[in-house]
Amino acid sequence: MKILITGAAGFIGTNFLKYAVPRYKDIFFYCYDKLTYAGRLSNLVPLLVNDNIKFTKGDLTDCDLLTAIFSKENFDAVINFAAETHVDKSLICCDQFIKTNILGTQILLQISNDFNIKKFLQISTDEVYGPVDYPHRLNEAACLKPSNPYAISKASADLICLSYFRSYNLPVVITRSCNNYGPYQFIEKQIPLMIYRAMNNKYLPVYGNGSNIRERIHVEDNIRAILVLLEKGKAGEIYNVSTGIGISNIDLVRILLKRLNKPESLIRFVKDRINHDKRYAMNSNKIKKEFNWKPEIDLEEGIDTTIEWYMNNYEWIKGCFTEEFNLFIETNYGELF
Ligand code: NAD
Ligand code: DAU
Repeated sequence: MKILITGAAGFIGTNFLKYAVPRYKDIFFYCYDKLTYAGRLSNLVPLLVNDNIKFTKGDLTDCDLLTAIFSKENFDAVINFAAETHVDKSLICCDQFIKTNILGTQILLQISNDFNIKKFLQISTDEVYGPVDYPHRLNEAACLKPSNPYAISKASADLICLSYFRSYNLPVVITRSCNNYGPYQFIEKQIPLMIYRAMNNKYLPVYGNGSNIRERIHVEDNIRAILVLLEKGKAGEIYNVSTGIGISNIDLVRILLKRLNKPESLIRFVKDRINHDKRYAMNSNKIKKEFNWKPEIDLEEGIDTTIEWYMNNYEWIKGCFTEEFNLFIETNYGELF
């Protein structure tokens, strides 16, 4: 079996490949990534010694390059991780979110359809549902009410995916997961940013009053869900992937500080995110019932191993601060980093 993995050098892509490449020797993983500020080839270098993986640098919107690769490689399946993923960035400038997440996905769908791909797994997000009032939890039939430009670009991509299934029978499966954490997550995201700043005794910026609620899933639990859906997910279906446990941002930051043995006086409440969704909440009964998947890593255990990873990989954190990223944060974030 040969699979195209887009966005391979990002957070979830890297963790997916580290998990799957050594375990699935009968699968060939063809990695494709533009290597934006969020993607790092060095994440994958140790894996490239294996016979069942290869890397090509390229853009999701590069129709010619992708067509040439598809013509040569005879893929069975595609997993589309590639995306612009940071909500705050999408609120500053969303052009690239539209290009990559919407247009890029459509181009990939069209080529996948032209080459009769047997499974197209779209990696989507709980953000497409928008905020959910307590105590409700949404299943896959819920309406999409995305709020921010990132969420809107992902919801658009989901709908285009479904249109390729409905119109051309392309076997598309969509997975919508909640907020992932773990190793290799780019420093702009809350958990790695808080760990990095606490390690350096810098204040921890909490947006608004910290009461916004997210479900946090360890990336390895999500990867097991993705692998189940790659094998068994039904064409045209959507699967939520979540823990069923919401936690507020302020409670999460307190847990991080406790595990890092740092004082709560480091917490600083700062200006809120524009249009900050109050609460995301899904139920994952479908994937649980149909395929017996469940999350296995509890938050405190997952946070401990994540903190340990960042502490042991400080050089990796420093690698996030490229000239491009430094310029971006200088222009847009002031002293937050
Ligand atoms: P990430 O930002 O860490 O990685 C994204 C990767 O995509 C990077 O390697 C980047 O170089 C690549 N990329 C970006 N634009 C590209 C383009 N035009 N062409 C080719 N490659 C491009 O993101 P992540 O957290 O690993 O997210 C992966 C996927 O999972 C995304 O589709 C995201 O929407 C989805 N998702 C993420 C989470 C989460 O909590 N991290 C939750 C639900 C869904
Ligand atoms: O829920 C899934 C989504 O999770 C994915 O689709 C996105 O790609 C991924 O980036 C993530 O989005 P979030 O906006 O939830 O992640 P982020 O880490 O940016 O923020 C998490 C919460 O923490 C959010 O409520 C905003 C808040 N926050 C974030 C930062 C960076 C802070 O309070 N302070 C911060 O400095």
